[in-house]
Amino acid sequence: MATTKFISVSERLAPLMFWRAVKTFLGLPRAVMTRRSPPPPMSPRAAKRARIDHLTSEDFKNGVFLAPMVRSGALPTRLFALKHGATMVWGPEMVDKAILHAERVVDPITGVISYNGKSRAMFTTHPIEKPYLIYQIGSADPELAVQAAKTVMQDVSGIDLNCGCPKPFSTHAGMGAALLTNPDLLCSILTALRREMPPEITVTAKIRLLPSQEDTLKLVERIVNTGISALTVHCRTRNMRDKDRATIERLREIVDFVEDMGKGIAVIENGDCLGWNDAHRVRDVTGAHSVMIARGAESNPSCFSPKPLQDVERTLVPSYLRVAKYLDHNWGLTKFCVAQFKGQHVTIRKAEATLMRQTLAQAKGFSGMDSIVGSWTGKEEFEEIVRAIETNPPRDHRLPSPTTAEQPEESAIVETTPPGTQNPEAPGSGAPFLPSSYHSAIPAMVTGHDATTPTPGGGVSVATV
Ligand SMILES: Cc1cc2nc3c(=O)[nH]c(=O)nc-3n(C[C@H](O)[C@H](O)[C@H](O)COP(=O)(O)O)c2cc1C
Repeated sequence: MATTKFISVSERLAPLMFWRAVKTFLGLPRAVMTRRSPPPPMSPRAAKRARIDHLTSEDFKNGVFLAPMVRSGALPTRLFALKHGATMVWGPEMVDKAILHAERVVDPITGVISYNGKSRAMFTTHPIEKPYLIYQIGSADPELAVQAAKTVMQDVSGIDLNCGCPKPFSTHAGMGAALLTNPDLLCSILTALRREMPPEITVTAKIRLLPSQEDTLKLVERIVNTGISALTVHCRTRNMRDKDRATIERLREIVDFVEDMGKGIAVIENGDCLGWNDAHRVRDVTGAHSVMIARGAESNPSCFSPKPLQDVERTLVPSYLRVAKYLDHNWGLTKFCVAQFKGQHVTIRKAEATLMRQTLAQAKGFSGMDSIVGSWTGKEEFEEIVRAIETNPPRDHRLPSPTTAEQPEESAIVETTPPGTQNPEAPGSGAPFLPSSYHSAIPAMVTGHDATTPTPGGGVSVATV
């Protein structure tokens, strides 16, 4: 009878380290050094079907993603990120229990879906982002994680488990970074999610580095064996702060290790990537399949474009405010997000930028920003986002494959950032504005109760996870 020999991390690493030393000795260039083989050929029809039906590991490769961010990863930010070139977007972490009893309500005019708690929306989304949306869970319990995932799965494409939040509100309950030192629990949550979710819902995880590389690889090996489709590695340890440089150079070995496991899992780099152009540098250093951006996108959600919006006080801010108002997005959250926006100043004068910031600081609601946004309803700009997403599907915004290691020609780059012009269309009929691919009937309201354990900071306080 054939027996399977367990190969430990160090045994597995030995040939890898040897091969790397040989390559370094021979001075082989980076593109040759990569051991990644090109993805198996797919017929155009199969590729299209896969894209439409559900995400696979391949969809997590060669992408630039919006990171999960409590507060800052709000719906309008995700929509702007997708419009400007993000391949996929992660929603802010929600603690499992927080969503369980939320009431799902669909706005018949805008199509916005809200999961409402007793006093506020816990999570909002729109059908246009569903093919690109990964919902992140904070959990320390496989059953609750599965229940939470089932609650939202009709509106998302994947479920991600947060295994990196170092904040006490997360770790004291055994969630977030506490899972890094409890791999049995971590893996049991991922295994339960993979077992209980339908195949069209991908399961992924986001971890931090452990202090030792060997321990990190042991953990990664276990996580990859749970059947996830992609693993994001925030290249900081639990004790490192955001101002500490991310140790992205540690990732290459992890990427090679995961590739050696032969499961085709995507490894996503996270930490200190500033935008689309910088993603090439990060990939070069790490060999990661994809790159995920948090603070760069918090400052400017158009950073996913080769040409991010400049003069944000005149371009991004008014547009964002109009869309947020049209979508009836929470004012406090909108104000917080807008206050984070920064960008290069080219034609704007300092006085104009300062006036915008002062007006925002004093505004008590959307009407307080009328002098900045004008009389626009936001419907036109929202429709423009929907058109942009439908015309240039975000999942087609890809970094060049590392095997070719070539930069795209200027003409091949999708110009996702439009000039900061306004669309003077008359307001529409008020009929629900849904993507043309959204044929399912708008579901009825589901009633329920508020969560006993609200998301820490969800919607109200900043968390650097
Ligand atoms: C405002 C803010 C909120 C965050 N919320 C989350 C979160 O909900 N879940 C998570 O896994 N990470 C969260 N993070 C961490 C980021 O996803 C990311 O791992 C970290 O900021 C490093 O990436 P960066 O260097 O691109 O900023 C948050 C970060 C920020 C700045």
